[in-house]
Amino acid sequence: MKIILLGAPGAGKGTIAKLLTEYDGSVQISTGDILRAAVKAGTDVGKEAKAYMDRGDLVPDSLIMRIMEGRLQESDCQKGFILDGFPRTIPQAEELKKLLQKLDINLDLVVNLDIPRDVILDRLTTRRTCANPSCQAIYNIKSNPPNPDGTCKKCGTKVIQRDDETEEAILHRLETYNQKTAPLMDFYKKEGMLHNFSSLSSTEIVDGIKAALKK
Ligand code: AP5
Repeated sequence: MKIILLGAPGAGKGTIAKLLTEYDGSVQISTGDILRAAVKAGTDVGKEAKAYMDRGDLVPDSLIMRIMEGRLQESDCQKGFILDGFPRTIPQAEELKKLLQKLDINLDLVVNLDIPRDVILDRLTTRRTCANPSCQAIYNIKSNPPNPDGTCKKCGTKVIQRDDETEEAILHRLETYNQKTAPLMDFYKKEGMLHNFSSLSSTEIVDGIKAALKK
């Protein structure tokens, strides 16, 4: 599958993307995970991105496009990909359209996770993430807890709260989403690609995506 996952911070993009990779081996490409790994490794990209991320701002479009132009040409993308957290602005969506045309890649669909704000706020404050950059499994202390000793069930690394999970940064991320990312729904609606999902069940959403892919 070649799909884009849209949705506010905490809507469940990472959770759904990970479930979809188990379905047909398509690779999850999360720009957030790529940036967090770069911050942890202290690369130039990480140094440039860190302050934006900690505040809950988007990093510059040019930086994201540099990352994605290379990433989409890596061999594991040939089996399919799930774009999680990209594009996030109209300029990114326009650049992605040109890039996909250049690479002769057709998208199957664009999925929008439409989740109420109170659910999102609750999910974000109770999320925990595996600190191992090559795992980054997503947990939730209410709906999907890690091991009782606070370690990852998959790799045994400590699970943590992300640096952008302060109340101030969460509210700013939601505001940034409304201003800069929500307009992408109209963009992809006009392209005839948008599929909305408002279920609170990840299983129902994954089944709905599989059904839409078969049409
Ligand atoms: P990114 O990592 O993409 O963060 P985000 O979009 O804010 O999304 P989240 O990862 O917070 O949430 P999610 O929708 O993946 O939800 P999750 O599955 O974890 O980006 C971080 C930062 O990087 C940005 O702020 C920006 O600075 C920068 N950045 C990244 N991409 C960029 C771009 N393209 N351009 C510019 N800047 C960029 O789920 C949340 C919680 O809910 C979890 O605890 C999960 O267990 C739980 N949960 C999920 N589904 C369910 C369910 N069905 N029932 C119960 N609990 C559930």
